[in-house]
Amino acid sequence: LKFLCYSNDGVDEHMIWLVGLKNIFARQLPNMPKEYIVRLVMDRTHKSMMVIRNNNVVGGITYRPYASQRFGEIAFCAITADEQVKGYGTRLMNHLKQHARDADGLTHFLTYADNNAVGYFVKQGFTKEITFDKERWQGLLVLGTSRTMMEEY
Ligand code: ACO
Repeated sequence: LKFLCYSNDGVDEHMIWLVGLKNIFARQLPNMPKEYIVRLVMDRTHKSMMVIRNNNVVGGITYRPYASQRFGEIAFCAITADEQVKGYGTRLMNHLKQHARDADGLTHFLTYADNNAVGYFVKQGFTKEITFDKERWQGLLVLGTSRTMMEEY
């Protein structure tokens, strides 16, 4: 099992994994327009921490680091259906947090969580109480519908 973080860098192997991750998001997040998922996963300002098993992607988190404001916005998070509730989601989030701190210098994460995923985010240390200075994120985040804003630091 490997946890690897890449963006759209033109490397064939990374592109194959990003396309696989995009397909997992499209299936697991049916309320998200597919074009929107493709656009953000392939956008060079976004990065994806992926769970790779036997050279196949089984899940991941796509996020956008805002380096000068020192926070990351989590856009999508999912594990493929037959691999859920095996602990991969927790390990994925832990790898993401470490990478974001070490490689991106981020201190906070913000996300608009699907209401049915709020329990997962709470277990990962996120809260609905947003303490992060509003001036640093206002106007940057894309508001989701039927989603709950959450923060982790
Ligand atoms: N609601 C409440 N608790 C949950 C949920 C949930 N939807 N999913 C997992 N958990 C709990 C588990 O029971 C577990 O608790 P435990 O540690 O006490 O046993 C803990 O969270 C972690 O479980 P993992 O096995 O690590 O989680 P998993 O690998 O299944 O990944 C994930 C969680 C990513 C939510 C996965 O179930 C999934 O892909 N779901 C469908 C897509 C989805 O809802 N994604 C999030 C949308 S919000 C966004 O993308 C910003």
